Amino acid sequence: MTSTHEQWDIVSGVGITALAVAEGRAAESAREDRLINDPYARALVDAADAPQLASAEAQELMRGMVSDYMGVRTRFFDEFFLRAAAGGCGQAVILASGLDTRAFRLAWPSGVRVFEIDQPKVLEFKDRTLDDIGAKPAAERHAVAVDLRDDWASALQDAGFDTSVPTAWLAEGLLPYLPVDAEAQLLDTIHRFSAPGSRLSIEHVAGDRDQMLGDEIRKVSDQWGIDLPSLFSVEDRPDPGDVLTGKGWTVRRDPSTEIAAGYGRTFSGVQEMFHEQSQMLTARLEG
Ligand SMILES: C[S@@+](CC[C@H](N)C(=O)[O-])C[C@H]1O[C@@H](n2cnc3c(N)ncnc32)[C@H](O)[C@@H]1O
Repeated sequence: MTSTHEQWDIVSGVGITALAVAEGRAAESAREDRLINDPYARALVDAADAPQLASAEAQELMRGMVSDYMGVRTRFFDEFFLRAAAGGCGQAVILASGLDTRAFRLAWPSGVRVFEIDQPKVLEFKDRTLDDIGAKPAAERHAVAVDLRDDWASALQDAGFDTSVPTAWLAEGLLPYLPVDAEAQLLDTIHRFSAPGSRLSIEHVAGDRDQMLGDEIRKVSDQWGIDLPSLFSVEDRPDPGDVLTGKGWTVRRDPSTEIAAGYGRTFSGVQEMFHEQSQMLTARLEG
């Protein structure tokens, strides 16, 4: 499918944010008190050779900003997928998968199919790099190269997605970048494609989206050399948890600070401010 939308790679546009969070997972994986181990994250970051991360100072800054939180968020969604797969979800869909390596590193029950959706150049980069280092998927993996503002539902079906199989869906690090119409279409399609027993988890920043344009974000953007405010979509929209409740899903909300505390971790300084409104939504569609 040819997209009319802007295309990016792993060092440009929103693509660079996938690299930033992979840096967070690489840093987290190297910590003694790590909450996760992503053995592929460092190789992915190094292969990208991003000018924005070239200096030791930039890397240090990125690590400091994202490692604590990335450990918490990655662990939470790892557990979500493993619980869902053990509970009968035979498919997983990682929306805006970026450099997510769960298809390679989680202990999926046999027969589970994992679909990863992102823009073509992001997926090409990941596939090539993981292939070069000999990484092997731990599930039946399907990379679906499509823009989530286009007809991704057809692309997912063309890749073999089966609407009769209960599915575990994940939107991690995605909603801040999606325009309002695309977010509504995303939730609609998930609902339409979800067999009873399906589950969904979403990283959600509650409250006013204007906060994503605040001084602290601008300061961090300047330091990183990544213009975050220009990447965010700040139009008002309904709360995704409320939308799902309206469609018949049972929704649970876990504030990130509470999840972190459960893992024995606290956020401090600027991270505390960023994450105080962050929540993880977990939703189930009963039979
Ligand atoms: C912050 S990264 C998160 C990546 C991954 N979920 C993770 O947590 O590691 C944001 C990702 O969203 C993807 N993305 C944003 N908007 C998209 C769109 N319209 N279509 C496809 N992918 C999109 C980017 O390419 C990027 O990989």
